[in-house]
Amino acid sequence: MAPGGLFGTAAAAVVVSLAVHVLLNCPIQPVPSPPPPTAGYAPNNLLQGLEKLGEEQLSGPEDVYVDAAAGGTLYTATRDGWLQRMQPNGTWERWRFVGGSGLLSIAPSGDGSMLVCDAYKGLLRVEEGRVTILASTVEGSPIRFAEAVIEASDGTVYFSDGSTRFGIDRWFLDYMEDSSTGRLLKYEPSTGKVSVVLDNLAFANGVALSQDDTFVVVCESWRYRCSKLWLKGDKAGKAETFIDNLPGSPDNIHLAPDGSFWIALLQLRSPWIDLVTRWTFTKRVVSSFPALLDMLKETGKGAMVAQVSENGKIVRVLGDSEGKVSNFITSVTEYDGNLFFGSISSNFIGTRLVLLEELLAVVEGVNADRAVLIVADANRAVIDALATGAATVDTLGA
Ligand SMILES: *[C@@H]1O[C@H](CO)[C@@H](O)[C@H](O)[C@H]1NC(C)=O
Repeated sequence: MAPGGLFGTAAAAVVVSLAVHVLLNCPIQPVPSPPPPTAGYAPNNLLQGLEKLGEEQLSGPEDVYVDAAAGGTLYTATRDGWLQRMQPNGTWERWRFVGGSGLLSIAPSGDGSMLVCDAYKGLLRVEEGRVTILASTVEGSPIRFAEAVIEASDGTVYFSDGSTRFGIDRWFLDYMEDSSTGRLLKYEPSTGKVSVVLDNLAFANGVALSQDDTFVVVCESWRYRCSKLWLKGDKAGKAETFIDNLPGSPDNIHLAPDGSFWIALLQLRSPWIDLVTRWTFTKRVVSSFPALLDMLKETGKGAMVAQVSENGKIVRVLGDSEGKVSNFITSVTEYDGNLFFGSISSNFIGTRLVLLEELLAVVEGVNADRAVLIVADANRAVIDALATGAATVDTLGA
């Protein structure tokens, strides 16, 4: 046989065995992904200045809740099955033990207990010495990936089920398949009834209520958008887009004190990911090789959060474009002029002052580029120095 023929036979054998491998092992039934939005925001690194709280003590604190009534006690759930909290004086304590490794979003309940999403078990209520599963199925279908939760003032609990196809350990396959099986769910404590509020969501993630519970927002990570469902007024019961074309995949969303929202935006884009997700064929091939899939997932780097007004417009974006200090920020919440960042892939809660408005007021008259330079290193001392005239923009060297 000629060398060329031998090569041809070998190549054909490789192609056939690859095809057989994909046929037998492909875990997804991919649907075409719509093209990702073209990013309209220049990357910045304002998040690189964050301070770390509870470093080394916290394993993957995905979400953060700050109790304003208690003077700023901060709560988070960690991979080791604990709800941990930080007192306003900075002391951390392991507060309530729940167990398992799937604790994600937390939200306070009016009765003093804490509502917790356990990605494996569903919606939990955690009280001293007691953990109750409030919901593990809905209308006969299992809640596969409880993600985020919020309680309205009338006691109704809204929470999300990311996907009916893949659980937390295989979330990236859900991204590859993109078959939109996420749901916004509702739990009514008076009856214990669980129902589906919205379905066919392209990964149902963060859930938040607007001021006065006028509407509930649910974020759809794989569509770079969040939807809102009106709860009050003429449009009650109607769903519409809250914001789309986000510069990242929205994870948790939290109401800010001024009625705006903070959204953590996962950076799941890279030239490789964009290429592979372009065709169902390439999604199928890569998903059939776990090592390849892990490598692909690792190419998405960086962290970003956005503040979005009550009417769904981006107010500001803070980022760590290369993921130098923080990668994969999964939640952001504002309390008393500070932002707190949770991340399922970090061992700390990040915090950074929200000084932009205050700073811009102080440096009024200075051109915006110079103001942004100062913001990049802003801290309380800098603001105070500017405000009192002890420093000027020129002496700061911006
Ligand atoms: C911090 O506050 C907690 C609760 O008020 C208290 O138990 C603890 O002793 C305080 N720690 C320090 C170092 O002040």
